[in-house]
Amino acid sequence: MRFLQPINLKSGMILAKNLYGSRNELLLAVGSVLTDSLISKMVITGCEGAYIVDNSTDDPNIKGIISSRLKENTVKAVRSFFMGIERNDSIIASYSFSTMKHLLDDIIDEISTDKNAMVNMVDLKVFDDYTYYHSVSVAGLSIMVGVSAGMNRNGLYKLGMGALLHDLGKIFIPKEILNKNGPLDFNEYEYMKKHSQFGSDYLKRQNALPIESIIAVLTHHERFDSKGYPLGLASNKQTIEGKIIAICDNYDAMTSDRPYRTAFSPSEAIEHIMGNAGVMFDPKILDLFIKKIVPYPVGTVVDLSNGKKGIVIENFPNSYMRPKIQIIPTMNNLKENIIYDLCNDPELLNVTVIGINRTKENKG
Ligand SMILES: [Fe+2]
Repeated sequence: MRFLQPINLKSGMILAKNLYGSRNELLLAVGSVLTDSLISKMVITGCEGAYIVDNSTDDPNIKGIISSRLKENTVKAVRSFFMGIERNDSIIASYSFSTMKHLLDDIIDEISTDKNAMVNMVDLKVFDDYTYYHSVSVAGLSIMVGVSAGMNRNGLYKLGMGALLHDLGKIFIPKEILNKNGPLDFNEYEYMKKHSQFGSDYLKRQNALPIESIIAVLTHHERFDSKGYPLGLASNKQTIEGKIIAICDNYDAMTSDRPYRTAFSPSEAIEHIMGNAGVMFDPKILDLFIKKIVPYPVGTVVDLSNGKKGIVIENFPNSYMRPKIQIIPTMNNLKENIIYDLCNDPELLNVTVIGINRTKENKG
C-alpha cells in the first residue's frame, strides 16, 4: 500500500483504503479501480491523494519469507562473491563468502523460527541484478521447503549454500550467450547447459563447501524422469537438495519478469509445476513446496465464479484457494464496500476464485 498525490495517480490503480471527502463523506470505497475521470475529479476537488494497492517489498503489511534488509544484504554479498571470482580477486571473493555464510545463518534463523511461514507475495526483482536476487529467492524458498522436510540446521545450511550458488557457473559462460537478446541456438544452449558443471567444478577446487552443496549445484537441472542435465541421473540417484532447488529455481524464474516475457502469476506457475509432478519434479517434494505457496497473494485482483471481481486482502493457512477478498465496486455504485471471507463465511460456500483478473485496467 502506498499514498500517492493525485498527480501521481494513474488509471487502473486500485484504492487500498476508503477515500473520504472534506465533510468525511465516503467518496470511493476501498477496491475501486481509478479511471482518468475519477482522478481528474480528485484534482479538481482538491483531494490530497489516496492509498493505492502496491505489492512493494517495503510494505510492512506484506511480508516476504525473509526481511527485506536481510534479503538486500545477502544480494550484495552474493553479487560481490560472483564478481570477486569473475575478476579473479581472491580477497573480495573470500571476504564476501564469509559474509554470505553469516547471512545464510540469519536467513535460516528467520525462516525456521516461523514454521507457518508462507509465500504470500511475488518477489520483485531489480532487473539488472536478476541473477543475485534470484539466487537469494531460491535460497529462501529452498530453506522453507527444507524446514517442512524436517531438515536439521546443518542440513539447511548445506541446502541454502547450494541454492545461493546454484547458478554460479554462469559467470563462466560468455556474455554473448548469457545476455543474448533472443532464443539460443542449439550450440549456444548446449554450452549454457554446462553452467551447472562449471559452478560445481569451481566450488570443488575451492574446498570450502560441504559436498552436499556442491552436488546440489551440479544437479539442479536434473529431472525426475532422468531427462535432465548434465548427467541425466535417475531420480533415486539424485539428492534431496538438488530436487528442492530444481523446484524453487523453476518457480522463482517463472514468477519473475524476464527480458523476453512478463512474469507468470503464482497460480499459473503452480499449475505448470504441478503439471510436471513425476516428470521434471519429485512429487513428494513438490507436495511440501505447494503447501507453502499462496496462489493468489495479497493484492492480486481475481475473478469470482459469481461474476464479481475483487482484491485479495488476506490469506489463511491451509485454505489458500479461499482467501478474504475486497469486492471491487461497480461503476454504478462506487461506494459499495463488500468483503467476501471465502474461508469462514458459510453463505459463500458456492463462490470460488476462478482465476487472476487479466483485464487491462488492473495493470496499473
Ligand atoms: Fe541453472
